[in-house]
Amino acid sequence: MTRILIINGPNLNLLGKRQPEVYGHTTLSDIETMCQEKVANSDVSLTFFQSNHEGAIIDTIHAAMENGTDGIIINAGAYTHTSVAIMDAVASVSLPTIELHLSNIHAREEFRHTSYLARVAVGQICGFGAYGYICAIDALRHHVTKT
Ligand code: DQA
Repeated sequence: MTRILIINGPNLNLLGKRQPEVYGHTTLSDIETMCQEKVANSDVSLTFFQSNHEGAIIDTIHAAMENGTDGIIINAGAYTHTSVAIMDAVASVSLPTIELHLSNIHAREEFRHTSYLARVAVGQICGFGAYGYICAIDALRHHVTKT
């Protein structure tokens, strides 16, 4: 079993209502349902976590080191562009981590082009909207199992 932790950061609890022209109409709960349906009866299990608080995200990354998590998918929202602390947490736990964004951050404002997480992630998926979560699960499973 490959155990994947999916972390969503600030403002992602508002998906569906928040700037739908940028982030789409799918809610975070819809995304979780879609992902859980994708992995049903497979060798992947998913745990979802969302917080608007940097420290809570860091605590959850630390806990992943102890609770059997095999890899992390993180959409850190705006913390992507600001948080050395979340970058350090990912580096500290040495779990393969995929950076994820709904929007193509490189096609947006200059300040979104910088990602601290990119320095410590296996790779980055962005620009595919909610489908990016499915891509990230496949990519992380492949990275962990090599199958
Ligand atoms: C985001 C992109 C970030 O720049 C932004 O701050 C978000 C969402 C995305 O999923 O496209 O909150 O991570």
